[in-house]
Amino acid sequence: MKSNASAPGKVILFGEHFVVYGVKAILCTINKRVTVTATKIQGNMISIKSNIGNLNIKSNESITEIKSPLKPFYFLANKMIEKFNENTGIEIIVKSEIPLGVGLGSSSACCVAGAAAISRLFYNTTKKEILELAIEAEKTIFQNTSGADCTVCTYGGIMEYDKKNGFSKINSEPNFYLIIANSKIEHSTESVVENVKQFKEKNEEKFSRLCIDESELINNVLILLKNNDLVGLGKNMLKNQQYLETIGISNEKLRLMIELAQKSSYGAKITGAGAGGCIIALADESNLEIMINQFKKKNYECFSTKIDFVGLDTF
Ligand code: PMV
Repeated sequence: MKSNASAPGKVILFGEHFVVYGVKAILCTINKRVTVTATKIQGNMISIKSNIGNLNIKSNESITEIKSPLKPFYFLANKMIEKFNENTGIEIIVKSEIPLGVGLGSSSACCVAGAAAISRLFYNTTKKEILELAIEAEKTIFQNTSGADCTVCTYGGIMEYDKKNGFSKINSEPNFYLIIANSKIEHSTESVVENVKQFKEKNEEKFSRLCIDESELINNVLILLKNNDLVGLGKNMLKNQQYLETIGISNEKLRLMIELAQKSSYGAKITGAGAGGCIIALADESNLEIMINQFKKKNYECFSTKIDFVGLDTF
């Protein structure tokens, strides 16, 4: 018995970090995917194969003993075997087009595609159930996740998200390109989130002002998105970037990349946890090629993407 699923990566367009403290964020999925194939096999092994390595462990092992980044897959497989009390092993094959550890949602896409492929070996899970499983799995590697990434990877498209009200799809289909440039500095979301927490504790007043400013910015952006106003959106990206600079998640390399992007795009900012990872720059047909060439000339890894409107796909 075999089950396949794929889920897209994502970028945070606006609101990262502040979303942890209840502010709305705007996210969208990108057209780069993780594909997971799960198969029931004889025996009691959970066997995971991926382009970052393999993991072979008997079912029923304690999750706390496992140190591998592939742990969420083990968690999901073990959970299903236990829930359905089945005497089976599971083979999981993971193929990813999403660069790792740079804020493009590769771990969330893995959790979503993994939750779908593995659970559907046992029963016909709904998207809602898959999302719940995916968030549980993601928590095995990142306890404080807001759940925003898994949510957007499941449903696809562009959406607003806040911790209290969850997600709501933005129905406009803005027609822009994002150029994603990779700083090649890996970051740990958990430690950057922890640094921001420390910044907040030392600067309570400043931080709550920033949360108010960010909320206002997001409300403006929602209107600009409806009107496909790239000039306005670009300006707000730069404004959002200043807030991210203030909370200390930028660095010299990211600043240089944003400066370079500003020369020909509508605007640019860090996406995701920061302190490394990627920046996004906003473009359309008129400036897309020029921008990519500018980045390539300086030897940056970069690619252009559009919003993926599919989300989780099972087949
Ligand atoms: O870089 P990423 O994709 O891990 O994004 C983290 C986004 C944060 O807002 C910093 C944390 C979160 O859980 O929302």
